[in-house]
Amino acid sequence: MDNIKYENGVLYLLDQTLLPNEEVFITPKTKEDYFEAIKKLRVRGAPAIGIFAAYAMALLDEDKAELKEYLDSSRPTAVNLSWATSRMLKAYYDGKSLIDEAIAIHNEDIDMCRKISEYGLSLLNDGYGILTHCNAGALATSKYGTGLGPLLLGKEKGYSFKVFTDETRPLLQGARLTSYELEKAGIDVTLICDNMASIVMKQGKIDAVLVGADRIAANGDTANKIGTSGVAILAKHYGIPFYVLAPSSTVDFSCKTGDDIIIEERDGDEIKNMWFEKPMALKETKCFNPAFDVTPNELITAIITDKGIVRAPYKDTLEETLND
Ligand code: MRU
Repeated sequence: MDNIKYENGVLYLLDQTLLPNEEVFITPKTKEDYFEAIKKLRVRGAPAIGIFAAYAMALLDEDKAELKEYLDSSRPTAVNLSWATSRMLKAYYDGKSLIDEAIAIHNEDIDMCRKISEYGLSLLNDGYGILTHCNAGALATSKYGTGLGPLLLGKEKGYSFKVFTDETRPLLQGARLTSYELEKAGIDVTLICDNMASIVMKQGKIDAVLVGADRIAANGDTANKIGTSGVAILAKHYGIPFYVLAPSSTVDFSCKTGDDIIIEERDGDEIKNMWFEKPMALKETKCFNPAFDVTPNELITAIITDKGIVRAPYKDTLEETLND
């Protein structure tokens, strides 16, 4: 499924806010269109945001340094965004073709996702029950995805998995995007509410948890979609492996630990109003709506990157594997 397409000089973006009911491509034109598409999650998922922002840097006739700052401010947690815009800015200063650089970032992500999927699949057995949270599939990346990559690749190779996906409140990426993506791929998927993860684990239905990541600190602490750390605590309790899958561009060595990662806070309207016919709380009721939380490294069985499978102690192994 191509969520971002560059054809004949035009960038097409699959509007993920309309899924799973409508498949509509939009064509952003101004820097405000690009900013709004990221902020409103028309494009979401750390690698996909980076790819989209790279095209913005290439296609918009703007001051490139200012444009980078502007785009980076749209969503602060996913490091792939500023990683991609930094790379584009460097390409600009080096006098390179910006569209070639954006296409290279896009193609490299396809390659990284494929490698992550292969490493991830090597840890799974045919017939495994899998739990996932949010959406880390092709929609969140370029192809295959990270957290869902081994499942999509496994399907191609004849594996059959039984996948449970948390609906992922408040924006329902698990319900709207993961179940849609897995159904389309012909993978057995069952949708559960976020507070049902414990019972499926207790009932022995889950052999491994697979999730994506938005920023990985040098010590392996990982920012993922809000609620992921709770799933990791449950997995530890039930003795189920908890795998984080991410491209090397998601590791941010400038963050020593998870405490250095900025957590995006979003409008409380997403909790109270957005998905309901009538408001689900009084107008004056305060909301706290962090978009991500940090999973401490001791809860992570392995971090699966395009460069290999990394295990604790992450403060040594991440650097060794990624800078090899
Ligand atoms: O807020 P979102 O929908 O952008 O959050 C996405 C996730 O949490 C993904 O799991 C993460 O970006 C990894 S994407 C491969």
